[in-house]
Amino acid sequence: MSDAQVAEAAVKPLGDDFHRKLRGVHHLVFNTDDMKMTIDFYAGVLGMPLVGAIKVEEGVDRGNPKFPNIRHYFFDMGNDSMLAFFEIPKGAKPRGDRDAIGTMQHVSFVATPDVQLALKARLEQHGYECDGPIRTSPGSQSIYFYDPNGIRLEASSAPAQGDNQQIMANRRMTKAQARLELATLYDDPDWIERAVTAFRD
Ligand SMILES: [Fe+2]
Repeated sequence: MSDAQVAEAAVKPLGDDFHRKLRGVHHLVFNTDDMKMTIDFYAGVLGMPLVGAIKVEEGVDRGNPKFPNIRHYFFDMGNDSMLAFFEIPKGAKPRGDRDAIGTMQHVSFVATPDVQLALKARLEQHGYECDGPIRTSPGSQSIYFYDPNGIRLEASSAPAQGDNQQIMANRRMTKAQARLELATLYDDPDWIERAVTAFRD
């Protein structure tokens, strides 16, 4: 993009449906200190094939951890998106707290009900604990487990939707319900009305 194109894009109105031009996650990135173990889990147990395996070149600064030549590997998490890892040298960083501010608390994969049960069976076969399926909201259920790095994972499905999971179509919360909750956050009716536009009537 030229500077002129960037300037033009900045002033162009995005419209209310701007979010529809986004298409979900390109890749999520976590840190591990054991890439081999991580491959064995994601590719071997969860069935997400390894689709990228590089080392970050020295001197590169794209938000990557500041260690020379560390591994940066990618797994296919379905529907054209990837889960990735950096491999931090052992002992170079403390173990993270997923409940700390600004950290990733957990990731939930979209699954069909059949895949959800198959994943649970595979996890248990390989000695990993797996809770659920547990009802999460009306019509939805999830299984919960940890990867060997201690990362909290979930696989969600709406059983009634079978093989054609439609995440947003399964939302049940109404504008009225959302208004009640949002008033506990910031009690300004104009602000609340702007915030509830995507909820159903
Ligand atoms: Fe969740």
